[in-house]
Amino acid sequence: MAENYIKSKIIDSEVAQHLGFADAVADIHRKNGASPKYFIQTFGCQQNEADSERLGGMCVAMGYEKTLTPEEADLILVNTCAVREHAEKKALSIIGQYKHIKDRNPALIIGVGGCMVTQEARADKLKKSYPYVSFTFDTGAAYKVPRLVLGALRGEKRSFILSDEWKINEGLPISRESGHMAWLSIMYGCNNFCSYCIVPYVRGRERSRSAEAIIEEAKQLIAGGAKDITLLGQNVNSYNGGDGVDIAELMHRICALDGDFRLRFMTSHPKDASDRLIEAMATEEKIVKHFHLPIQSGSDRILKEMNRKYDTAAYLEKIAKLKVAVPDVSITSDIIVGFPGETEEDFLGTLDIMEKVRYDMVFSFIYSPRNGTPAAKMDCQIPHEVSAERMSRLLALQDKISNERNERFLCRTMRVLAEDVSKNDPNMLTGRGDGVRPIHFAADRSVIGQFVDLKIKSVSTYSFEGEII
Ligand code: SAH
Ligand code: SF4
Ligand code: F3S
Repeated sequence: MAENYIKSKIIDSEVAQHLGFADAVADIHRKNGASPKYFIQTFGCQQNEADSERLGGMCVAMGYEKTLTPEEADLILVNTCAVREHAEKKALSIIGQYKHIKDRNPALIIGVGGCMVTQEARADKLKKSYPYVSFTFDTGAAYKVPRLVLGALRGEKRSFILSDEWKINEGLPISRESGHMAWLSIMYGCNNFCSYCIVPYVRGRERSRSAEAIIEEAKQLIAGGAKDITLLGQNVNSYNGGDGVDIAELMHRICALDGDFRLRFMTSHPKDASDRLIEAMATEEKIVKHFHLPIQSGSDRILKEMNRKYDTAAYLEKIAKLKVAVPDVSITSDIIVGFPGETEEDFLGTLDIMEKVRYDMVFSFIYSPRNGTPAAKMDCQIPHEVSAERMSRLLALQDKISNERNERFLCRTMRVLAEDVSKNDPNMLTGRGDGVRPIHFAADRSVIGQFVDLKIKSVSTYSFEGEII
C-alpha cells in the first residue's frame, strides 16, 4: 500500500458504491496473480494536482502500485488542463506518445480526465482520433474511474460520456505525493465567468465541503506529519460552509488544532477578499503571510470587459488594508497580457498597478482564446507580436520589483520547512520560509519534512540561499 494513502471517514453513498468497483478490479488482479502498476500524468493547477492524488488513491484501492515510468504501467491516467491552448497541446502530444507503449503492451489501459476532456469537442476528438484511449472522465466524474477501469478490463465498449455532475463526492481515498506538504480542497468550481476563462465551464458551479469534513481531513494530515497545508479552491475565499463559516472562520478553526504546521490558501478573488480574511492572516501565527490576489489587468476598461467585478481603486483599497494589517506580507498576482482590445494605454495601466502594489511575484500569461468563452468572440484580438513585446516589458519590470522586494530578506533569520532535495544541486535542500521564493541550503536529507532555522546569506531574483544557524 502507498505510503501516504488515506481513507476518509466521511463517505458519500455513490462514492462508496464506486469503491466497490475498485474492490472488484483488485479482485481480478489478485485472481490473476498480477501486481499491476499505475502512472498518472498531471497538467494544470493545484486543483488538478489534488485531483490526481485522489485518482492515485483510487488506483491503490484498485490494487495498483505507483510507478514513475509510463513504460512500466498497466494503467495510465492523464489529468488534463484547458486554461490555455498550450496546456491542451501538451496533453494531446503526451497522449500521442503513449500510443507506442500501448503498441508494445496491448493490455495497457489509458484513461484521460480533467478539464480538457470536460469539453464535449475534446472528448469526441479523443474518441475518434485516439483509438487506444479506453475512456475519458470529466472533472465531476473522477470517482467513476474504478467502474471505467473494470469495464476496460472486461473488454466493454470504450466510454466517452460527459456526466455533467457537479457534486462534492466526499470520501475518495487519497494517495499523497508528500507527507509533509498537503493540498486540502475546501471548495470546487467557479461562479465568476470571467470572460476569458474556461474554468467555470469545465469545473461547474461553486460548492463548498462541510467544515466538519475539512477539519477531519486536516486532523488526519497533521497526525500524519503534514507541516504545510494549502487550502484549495478556484475561489477559495468565497468558501461557504454554512452557519456563517466563511474562509476566515474555517482557518481560525484549523489554526486552533494542535500541531506545528503552517496554513496557506489559493486562489483568492479580489471581490471576496474580506476584512475578516485579512484579519485572520494578521492574527493567526500559523497562516503564512502570503496573499495571492490576481489583478489580471490594471485597466478599469479591460477589467470590465473581463467581467472581474472590481476596479483598480477597489483593488488598491484592499491591498492598502492588507499592508497595514500584515506589514511584511508577500503579495502575488496573475496578470493577462493582450486581452482583446488591450491598448498601449491599458497595458501601461497594468505596469502602473504593478509599481503601486509592488508584488513579490507575478504569474503572467499571454491571452489565449478559449472556445465557448465570450472573450474569444470579441473584436480586436491582439497580434501575438504585440502581446509578446508587452510581456517582455512586464517581465523586466517585475524582475526589477522582485529584486527590490527580495532585499528585505537579506540577513534575516527565518523558520523554513525543508521541503525536498534541490532540483539544481543534489547536495542542497530547498524549502520556503517567509516570502514566496524557494530557499536553498546545505543540510542533511534527514531534516526533510522538518522546520529548520536559517539565516539568509544571499538573495537573487528567483531564489535565496540560506545557512542553518
Ligand atoms: N481561479 C483563479 C485561477 C484561474 S486560472 C483566479 O481566478 O485567479 C489561473 C490563471 O490563468 C488566471 O488567473 C488567469 O490569469 C490565467 N488565465 C485564465 N484564462 C486564461 C486565458 N484564456 N488566457 C490566458 N490566461 C488565462
Ligand atoms: Fe476563471 Fe475568473 Fe473563475 Fe478565476 S474567477 S477560475 S479566472 S472565471
Ligand atoms: Fe487548468 Fe482546469 Fe486548473 S483548466 S488551470 S486544470 S481548473
